[in-house]
Amino acid sequence: MARGADEPPAGSGGSRAQHDPARARALARELGIEVDAEGCLPGASFFFVKSEGRLELRDRLEPRGHGACVDFSAFARRPRRGALAKREPLARAFHGCLTILDATAGLGQDAFLLAVSGHSVTAVERSAPLAALLADGLGRALEDPALAPHLAATLRVVTGDARNVLAAAEPAPDAVYLDPMFPQKRHASALARKAMRIVRELAGEDLDSAELFAAALRRARLRVVVKRPRGAPYLAGTPDVEYGGKLVRYDAYLTANRRHLAALWGVGAAL
Ligand SMILES: C[S@@+](CC[C@H](N)C(=O)[O-])C[C@H]1O[C@@H](n2cnc3c(N)ncnc32)[C@H](O)[C@@H]1O
Repeated sequence: MARGADEPPAGSGGSRAQHDPARARALARELGIEVDAEGCLPGASFFFVKSEGRLELRDRLEPRGHGACVDFSAFARRPRRGALAKREPLARAFHGCLTILDATAGLGQDAFLLAVSGHSVTAVERSAPLAALLADGLGRALEDPALAPHLAATLRVVTGDARNVLAAAEPAPDAVYLDPMFPQKRHASALARKAMRIVRELAGEDLDSAELFAAALRRARLRVVVKRPRGAPYLAGTPDVEYGGKLVRYDAYLTANRRHLAALWGVGAAL
């Protein structure tokens, strides 16, 4: 679960590490991520810290030190480890798809839910710092006996641009999942807002999501699923099926159908 790093993990005292440039630089070096002399990500005030065994990204300018990390441990205590019920829109959107390439993994909330629900998920994130947080969260989940058997063979993290990963994916995934950045809702909790601010600042606005969608359509064997806030315009034309939830909507584009139609009409170009 993506969380504000000031939220103490269950059973801990929630102690807080201060900004220490030398330590931040050493940690970034270990992760293979470039930082400046202050140990902060270039052009930002964010630095890595290891606290209570987990990797966190904190903001040097934030007096209360809120940050972001990935912690899936709470799912271990949920019924079926948080696996989606069949009627849930996200589960329905991927019904019949065994392999999924999550092309916009972020902090991996959706990738995790799909993986514990039985899909084999490749989570691709192009922001190296965010991918590092996700890999750290997955690593700790794989040490948790309640989660490991349900994730070991079903979730992997890849750092890179999903357009390149898709082009090289062999075999092609059954489905590709896209959840590009969307303007934030004002009523998000303060904690979520702070963690999300870090994600947003690192990820940018995903202005190239139309290109990513085109790459996904070319490669997905069965479908491309796009997550949108409820009521938001479609990312790319009218979907074949919509799965509506309370706050979000999943738009499914059935690639097999589209290829079939394109072949029938002799217009193979779009796919
Ligand atoms: C809204 S977040 C996704 C949140 C995610 N679904 C979750 O459950 O935590 C969008 C993410 O997609 C990533 N992204 C956008 N385009 C990408 C691309 N072409 N390749 C890889 N990652 C991409 C951004 O860096 C950002 O972290």
